[in-house]
Amino acid sequence: MRIRSTLLAAALATAFPLFANAASTPPEPAQKPWLDRALSADQRAQLAVKAMTQEEKLRWVMAYFGNDFGKGKRIPESLVQSAGYVPGTPRLGLPALFETDAGLGVASQAGPNVRERTSLPSGLATASTWDPKVAYAGGAMIGSEARASGFNVMLAGGVNLMREPRNGRNFEYAGEDPLLAGIMVGHAIKGIESNNIISTLKHYALNDQETGRNELDARIDKAAFRMSDLLAMQLAFEQSDAGSVMCSYNRVNGPYACENDYLLNQVLKRDWGFKGFVMSDWGATHSTVAAANNGLDQQSGHEFDKSPYFGGALQEAIKTGAVPQARLDDMVTRILRAMFAKGVVDNPVKEGGAIDFAKNGAVSRTTAEEGMVLLKNDNRVLPLAKTVRTIAVIGGHADAGVLAGGGSSLVYPVGGNAVKGLKPDTWPGPVMYHNSSPLRAIRAQAPNAKVVYDDGLDAARAARVASQADVALVFATQWVGEALDATSLALPDRQDDLIAQVAGANQRTVVVLENGGPVAMPWLAKVPAVLETWYPGTSGGEAIANVLFGNVNPSGHLPATFPAAEQQLPRPKVDGDPAQPEMQFAVDYTEGAAVGYKWFDLKGHKPLFPFGHGLSYTTFSYSGLSSQMKDGRLHVRFKVTNTGSVAGKDVPQVYVAPVSAKWEAPKRLGGWDKVALQPGESKEVEVTVEPRVLAMFDETSRTWRTAKGKYKVTLAEDAAGTNASSVTVDLPASTLDVRGRARAAR
Ligand code: BGC
Repeated sequence: MRIRSTLLAAALATAFPLFANAASTPPEPAQKPWLDRALSADQRAQLAVKAMTQEEKLRWVMAYFGNDFGKGKRIPESLVQSAGYVPGTPRLGLPALFETDAGLGVASQAGPNVRERTSLPSGLATASTWDPKVAYAGGAMIGSEARASGFNVMLAGGVNLMREPRNGRNFEYAGEDPLLAGIMVGHAIKGIESNNIISTLKHYALNDQETGRNELDARIDKAAFRMSDLLAMQLAFEQSDAGSVMCSYNRVNGPYACENDYLLNQVLKRDWGFKGFVMSDWGATHSTVAAANNGLDQQSGHEFDKSPYFGGALQEAIKTGAVPQARLDDMVTRILRAMFAKGVVDNPVKEGGAIDFAKNGAVSRTTAEEGMVLLKNDNRVLPLAKTVRTIAVIGGHADAGVLAGGGSSLVYPVGGNAVKGLKPDTWPGPVMYHNSSPLRAIRAQAPNAKVVYDDGLDAARAARVASQADVALVFATQWVGEALDATSLALPDRQDDLIAQVAGANQRTVVVLENGGPVAMPWLAKVPAVLETWYPGTSGGEAIANVLFGNVNPSGHLPATFPAAEQQLPRPKVDGDPAQPEMQFAVDYTEGAAVGYKWFDLKGHKPLFPFGHGLSYTTFSYSGLSSQMKDGRLHVRFKVTNTGSVAGKDVPQVYVAPVSAKWEAPKRLGGWDKVALQPGESKEVEVTVEPRVLAMFDETSRTWRTAKGKYKVTLAEDAAGTNASSVTVDLPASTLDVRGRARAAR
């Protein structure tokens, strides 16, 4: 059972006093025109709502937790140990909603009957692939497991920007850049929804740290907000047409996100044209009238809130006119519209579908392989030769499996936890290892080598083991999870000391990181190679071995800056106090849209590793960079050549910067491509720059404005300008509407 706030609702029994003496159910209608697939989702939803009684409508807007809570029992119609349940209207042929977390796969709430499912690597790993097709394939895979498990809503699509590298949920998200994060998460959502189920987009918005998440007021200038966190969400929404948006726990510029007129009514529904429904996060609803009128459409897991606000209280509020009847009709229309549009009504889910774990494990493995980032590789220590004689594998439970992050997104592995008994074993734990042992996979790759394992708990002993090997592989882990932030960027449990001692004993020491986000590396100068694997998912061990031995050439690139020191961050310490979750405080995002590399550029800080960084076992060169405006878009062309001796994939990145106009920071990522090349092969690449990335948002007119003038277009391997070449282009003044379209449609 997870207890995430002291505010658990007292009694489910009192949730629906209005239904206690409900009128008898009306008969089933002879005709159900809303089931006609030839009609549009809008028409179908409107027709269905018209046929409903008030009681039936009200049932759609208040959802149940799918697990036991406190002294309360799970509502029996829900799926066991699931995130949520919304009763349907069987009389009208409208199925219930069965909700499961999250973005990495089908998660389970804690208890004796977890579902064992395939886990993708962390969201940061998927983002590191810089390949929307990989994100889509991963989404399609986990969505298929959701459907096979009887779920028609997946609480996925986390796209909170990495403003805070210590945020305990960074691993669920897609990094610090709105363009990269928005496009990658948008494709993942699209993949999920390709299974005729609904995905959320979450957590809307600015839930960028976990410390004090239920109370903190995230304050930011509105225009800066539109160009950063909101842009990531907007792009993800445009890519995917997500059926639902989950509003977050925190406040945003005053009101709670789930009763925030600016966020819900103005930005999401009016400006972006969102026609789906807004569901609250579990415990994020705080009122009836304010929430309903300001745009919340459904109270999720109402047991987590102080009161069943969208139950009897909403019925009363409608009676008195405090909430218009039209608003309730709109809420239900939105829910049903998403169900019709995504195929939930026409393709009912059923529990117990077949799952091909081998096939899905391969999808997860490919994502992990494409997302691993080779951070450092001096003297070509990697790839390892298959003829290597002795390998010392040290630490990180590498004999057993690979680490996962904690909280609601945790996918329980097939076969159970590979490392039992670690703390915390309750929410947001248990600390979980997927049964994909790197040690086993390494042994399989080098059958003639002597591969020894040391658990790394005694650094001096591990160093002795390393001193006798040709190469030492140190597995370093950082467990983080929902509801808590990392206390610092340092690796926990004296692992820095372990790495330093092993590196002192063996010059060919490779550090393999399994972590939730950026970490400090005080030992970096002492080790020749570092491989960032994030949380590598169900098949992580095999993926790691494939990259270490060069069966797969690494092609992941960082979706976030690794700081050299916490002092470089806008907030050297995380605001708030983890010991006082009910404390009210503000987080002032005075850096505005200057998030991540933009902040580092602005301040002239040199990071440990820049955004976009990632090495390969081959080398690439760029030539022929040119750039021109065509059909109102900036097109950038160039040639990429594989100048090395093995096949590989490059991620050429296009950065744009105004020469005289002023932005929040010197440059922005304008676009990229992922290009596969055989040795010696060249390819012409064309990147079209997202027009909003060339503009500043004007909150008064709600338009994106590009200033006339010269802009520098830089092609590089990372945000620090490795391998960079630049051209200058003249851009005309232009104004785009709030959705980034050329002609303002009002
Ligand atoms: C999380 C959401 C999740 C929900 C349901 C909340 O604690 O913030 O991301 O979808 O729980 O489990």
